[in-house]
Parts: sequence; C-alpha cells; structure tokens
Amino acid sequence: MPAIPIGTVAIIGGTGRLGMGLARRLAKAGVPIVIGSRDPAKARAAAQSLVGNIRGAVNDDAAEAADFIIIAVPYEAHRTTLESLAAAVAGKVVVDTAVPVEFAGGLRVNRVQAGSLAQETAQILSGAKVAAAFHTVSAPMLSDVSRPIHGDVLICGDEPAAKEAAATLARAIGMRPVDVGGLAEAHALEQLAGLLLVMNRRYKRRDLGITIAGL
Ligand SMILES: NC(=O)c1ccc[n+]([C@@H]2O[C@H](COP(=O)([O-])OP(=O)(O)OC[C@H]3O[C@@H](n4cnc5c(N)ncnc54)[C@H](OP(=O)(O)O)[C@@H]3O)[C@@H](O)[C@H]2O)c1
Repeated sequence: MPAIPIGTVAIIGGTGRLGMGLARRLAKAGVPIVIGSRDPAKARAAAQSLVGNIRGAVNDDAAEAADFIIIAVPYEAHRTTLESLAAAVAGKVVVDTAVPVEFAGGLRVNRVQAGSLAQETAQILSGAKVAAAFHTVSAPMLSDVSRPIHGDVLICGDEPAAKEAAATLARAIGMRPVDVGGLAEAHALEQLAGLLLVMNRRYKRRDLGITIAGL
C-alpha cells in the first residue's frame, strides 16, 4: 500500500484509552490531531494533557475539521455516534477501530447483522471511504510512548484510498501495515481482537498484539 500525505486526523472518542494512545503516538510523529468527545471541555482537557499539534472539539466539529477520521468509541456507542457524524464525514476517509465486544456476563464478541461492525459502519456512513484497522493494537502499549512499539496493524477495506490512509497512519507511528483484504474480512479482525482480550487475561498482560510471521 503506497504512502499518502497525512493531513489533520480527528479521533472520535479520542478521550478514551485507544484514542489517547493513538493521539500520543501520532502527535509524536508530528501529525495534527483533533481529539473528539461528546463534551467540548473534556476534549480540550484531553488535548491539553498531550504534547504536539493537538486540539479538542465535540465529535462532529472534530470530524468536520479533519481529513481522516478515526472511530474509537465502544460498541454500545458505535451506531449512535456514527449516525451523528454522517454529514461531517461525507467524502472523507474513516478508519474504524471498534470491536463489537461486550463484557457483561463474560467477554463476548457479538455477531453483527451486517457481517461485521466495520461493514455496519460502511452502511451507516455510505458517503465515506471506510477501512477497518487497529483492532489488535493495545491502547496501553500505544500510551507509553517511552516503550518501543510492537505488532502489525491489520487493515481491511473495499476502498483503496481508505486502506492507504490507514497504512500511512500505521507507518507514522512506527508500525507495519498488513493488508488483509476487503471489508468482508473485518469480522475476522474483530474476532481476533476478542481473542487477544482473552489472552491478555490468561497471561495477565494488557499489551499483547499480532505480528504476521513470514511476511
Ligand atoms: N482499548 C484498547 O486497547 C483497544 C484496542 C483496539 C481497539 N479498541 C476499540 O476501540 C474502541 C474504543 O475503545 P476504548 O477502550 O478506547 O474505549 P473507552 O475508553 O471506553 O471509550 C472511548 C471514548 O468513547 C466515548 N464514549 C464512551 N461511552 C460512550 C457512549 N455511551 N456514547 C458515546 N460516546 C461514548 C467516551 O468519550 P467522551 O466521553 O469524551 O465522549 C470515551 O472516552 C472500542 O470499540 C474498542 O473495541 C480498543
């Protein structure tokens, strides 16, 4: 996947664990970031806690202001958040990180009627170019910028421009992008993320990742 120049990146749900981890790493690489939140004051506080070209805004304004939009909200917030963003992301690249995982009554990765959460995203945001990536990248690993980064970024999507953008973001933070195919493969990435959560528990870790051997 060829590299493309990175413009401003909005992180929807950017005040959370994965969003802040990605913001730290991308800001360190010099990428302009807008941290999105439902609450503008929370977004500003999160942005002020980081170093780099970072500001905070409510989610829709963050999406409006950016060239690339990363979705980093939990499953339960996914559909409603995306529905509110449809106009702001039209024609833009959206990289979805979300996993349809539920923790109540035991960890479970839910089946999604569209086939995967990323395919649901492409249906809801039909005017955007959607890729799915970063599902298997640990937020605690990203957040500690003093530590070397590990693992690959597995990417799928039906829009080459969206996959290229996700690959460029991966390279910017020092990770290797791996193209795993079309959005139809996203359900496997989402399941793999659930497996990593189980393995993190088993091995008492918070930072396990996936590296593709032999590539
Ligand atoms: N954590 C990881 O290591 C990791 C790794 C790979 C993929 N992911 C995926 O990334 C996504 C985010 O994970 P996370 O661990 O970063 O989540 P999180 O910290 O629990 O939440 C992220 C942000 O989402 C917003 N949010 C929470 N509940 C919401 C609701 N009901 N409605 C609207 N917005 C809500 C909050 O932002 P505001 O309150 O500021 O609006 C919150 O800071 C998930 O889909 C997860 O599967 C996570």
